[in-house]
Amino acid sequence: ESGSYGLDGHPDFMRKEMAEQPEAVRRALRGRLDARFATAHLGGLDLDPMALRAVRRVKFLGCGSAYYAGQIGAGMVESLARIPADAEPASEFRYRNPVVDPDALYVAVSQSGETLDTLAAVQELRRKGGRVMGAVNVVGSAIARECGSGVFLHAGPEISVASTKAVTTMGVSFAMLALLLGRVRDLSSAAGTRIVGGLQALPDRIEAALELDAQVAEVAQRYAKSQHMFFLGRVSGWPVAREGAQKLKEVSYVHAEAYQSAELKHGPIALIDADMPSVVIVPNDDLVAKNLITMEQVKARGGPVIAVTAVDLPASAADVVIRVPDGEPELDPLVLGIPLQLLAYHTAAALGRDIDKPRNLAKSVTVE
Ligand code: AGP
Repeated sequence: ESGSYGLDGHPDFMRKEMAEQPEAVRRALRGRLDARFATAHLGGLDLDPMALRAVRRVKFLGCGSAYYAGQIGAGMVESLARIPADAEPASEFRYRNPVVDPDALYVAVSQSGETLDTLAAVQELRRKGGRVMGAVNVVGSAIARECGSGVFLHAGPEISVASTKAVTTMGVSFAMLALLLGRVRDLSSAAGTRIVGGLQALPDRIEAALELDAQVAEVAQRYAKSQHMFFLGRVSGWPVAREGAQKLKEVSYVHAEAYQSAELKHGPIALIDADMPSVVIVPNDDLVAKNLITMEQVKARGGPVIAVTAVDLPASAADVVIRVPDGEPELDPLVLGIPLQLLAYHTAAALGRDIDKPRNLAKSVTVE
């Protein structure tokens, strides 16, 4: 425990921190949304509109869940600002002698601000003249200091090794960054207003997604004995699937593999049988019909399908349909992640795992 930050009646910190997400998101948004000009203000980002317009590329760097959050961010930047964007594990970036693009904006993503690989990536970038901002939770941490500018996540203290509220606030910060970059380019004020509204509604939407708890707990009990699980998604659902698989592995020790839905048929579909459930992520985007085909393909091989969806699906599409509340589709990845956190949590609980202190893991990895 850190100082006065206690469990407040929750059985463990992961549970407490999942429950705190609506409040954490409210804090992350506070004072940053501008309804009048349909944009966001990120005070710690020392870039004027001309400098923002000059950004030709955005690259998110982080490790583990921070990397997956960065991949969600990259998708938002591409779709709202139409700037090429991607994410890369900081641990790979630092070792591969990267070409540093002076016209790119690099975003170093870290809850703790102490992850050695991410810090080393920032140092490598700065040595080569790269422009790097932080997206960090802990104020005064090594990465926050090294970056000098950026956004704080305002998630509040996170004790559980499995990151939940920090990951969600990372996504919220990147939605605001994407909005800001979009609004100095071609994102219309009407579209900006829609995203501002979607962000304002997000805390309640997440609150409602947390109410899926009982349904997800039942699903977890039903599948907890599985040796393996697939997490499938495409485009904006893909990083959500990756983060869901990582969370399940971390706290329950059930082997999970995330895969791009359309890649399944190129090999891994051979693994599908009655003992291999697939969690399929369905955002409210143009690819719903494609995701239905994925579910069909899995079912046709006898694999159980758990759909986590932001659209209504026919009951026959999956063995279980977990439906998150409606909202602006660009923000769906942030809400679809909530039932996956709950699935990891309840699977771990069903298997009697030490949820806050999974074996072999530390809260922040400050070694090579
Ligand atoms: C998250 O559940 C993991 N424990 C882990 O992947 C974590 O996100 C990663 O080590 C990065 O940590 P950071 O955000 O503190 O840099």
